[in-house]
Amino acid sequence: MLQVNTIAAVREQVAAWHRVGDTVAFVPTMGNLHAGHLALVAAARKLADHVVVSIFVNPLQFGPNEDFDRYPRTLAEDAAKLEQVEADLLFAPPVEEIYPHGQVVATKVDVPGVSEGLCGAMRPGHFVGVATVVAKLFNIVQPDLAIFGEKDFQQLQVIRKMVNDLCMPIEIVGVSTMREADGLALSSRNQYLSTEERSKAGMLYQQLRAAADQLSERDDFSTLESEAMKALHDAGFEPEYFAIRNAETLLPAEKDTSELVILVAARLGNTRLIDNISLSLVK
Ligand code: PAF
Repeated sequence: MLQVNTIAAVREQVAAWHRVGDTVAFVPTMGNLHAGHLALVAAARKLADHVVVSIFVNPLQFGPNEDFDRYPRTLAEDAAKLEQVEADLLFAPPVEEIYPHGQVVATKVDVPGVSEGLCGAMRPGHFVGVATVVAKLFNIVQPDLAIFGEKDFQQLQVIRKMVNDLCMPIEIVGVSTMREADGLALSSRNQYLSTEERSKAGMLYQQLRAAADQLSERDDFSTLESEAMKALHDAGFEPEYFAIRNAETLLPAEKDTSELVILVAARLGNTRLIDNISLSLVK
């Protein structure tokens, strides 16, 4: 695996692959790779001739009181894991390579609609930071396709909309969430949980499953949402939202919506966890 940290070096390698007609899949990450990320690389391997992975903890998508400083940075271990799953190129730029003028970026990408509400409401500026860095990374890597985890469902819809609206010639592929035995979605942030918090954390997914199982028999989605919020609160979470939405628009689901997603965000101690579950309702 080739490891580079400049835009010029990525472009040179990807252009060489494209010149001979090879395809390139891209997996953008913030590093601290776990089995969920490696599953994205494995999916990428199946879909293209070459796989590029980026590791960049993007300051633009963290709010002033969020975990940018303590976000785990484990580049050497990450590189070793990527070698094992046969990624071809690791792009791990320093902050100045992506933001040479500091974080005052004149051009930003905003994707209103899908980025509003849910995490967008709880983390002001987060999705502008995500869309801006992903647009930059797409322009740097110029992949044929890009792979994202479905765990960050709203992020995935923001990226899909951006690519569609800006006519970016990149296919976006979503990969299902990997889970621990109790259902907890794999996330780099799980390591912040204390032993006691970790023993409760699987309940987030259990609430999603319980709501999904009841959905077809319930008329009043907002009562179902409130009941789930209360159950999480009673179990010691600080729930931010538990929302039943149209899977494409992320607007509140109506009785006749057939493709739905149930999304949750909750704090457990100092750790913010998110998860979701998609389902089709046959009417
Ligand atoms: O999901 C992530 O790890 C990040 O939001 C991403 C897509 C790499 C952009 O920084």
